Amino acid sequence: MKFFLDTAIIEEIREVNELGILAGVTTNPSLIAKSGRIFEEVLQEILTIVDGSVSAEVISRDAEGMIQEGERLAAYGKNVTIKVPMTLEGLKAVHHFSKKGISTNVTLIFSANQALLAARAGATYVSPFLGRLDDISHDGVQLVDEIARMFEQHQLPTEIIAASIRHPYHVSAVAQVGAHIATLPYSVIKQLVKHPLTDQGIEKFEQDWEKALKK
Ligand code: E4P
Repeated sequence: MKFFLDTAIIEEIREVNELGILAGVTTNPSLIAKSGRIFEEVLQEILTIVDGSVSAEVISRDAEGMIQEGERLAAYGKNVTIKVPMTLEGLKAVHHFSKKGISTNVTLIFSANQALLAARAGATYVSPFLGRLDDISHDGVQLVDEIARMFEQHQLPTEIIAASIRHPYHVSAVAQVGAHIATLPYSVIKQLVKHPLTDQGIEKFEQDWEKALKK
């Protein structure tokens, strides 16, 4: 499973990129609003840092509008992935982008049937939202498991991006059930690194080393 970063904050992208684990970035209108910057400026800056897929989301509700927006965004770089909501109009737009060789990420996926439709329309990626499902007492990890099995059974090339990840358990769980990618907030990347026994171990090695030097 690869790691994407779910953010529009440039400093976070630069920092995670230095770790050598960054395979792509996902943004959405809420994340862009949080960055306080102009969407297309942020997108262009992200593209100067990241070689992998960078998801940029369309706002229009109708296929025609999505296509117009998506084509303008796709012109910024080969690695721009057009993020399209899971609606009938979204599927029409995905079908169009797929024929033109433009990568797509169908977002706001909450059921296996939605994922199957998106894959059949030609989506490059589908994004099941784990945390938001957990919030309403459903099992987000189970959804990723169902989608992964279905795609394998029917040999669908669409990749699963586990999204709306809230904590480290989500990460190892979706890796085990077959997500191709997990898109993580910066805070979760930092949590993944941490373990109290690692911190205690470093402390103890340092103390023992200093004791040995004093002898
Ligand atoms: C994914 O592409 C979305 O941007 C994101 O994971 C949504 O996460 P949230 O439910 O924490 O807003």
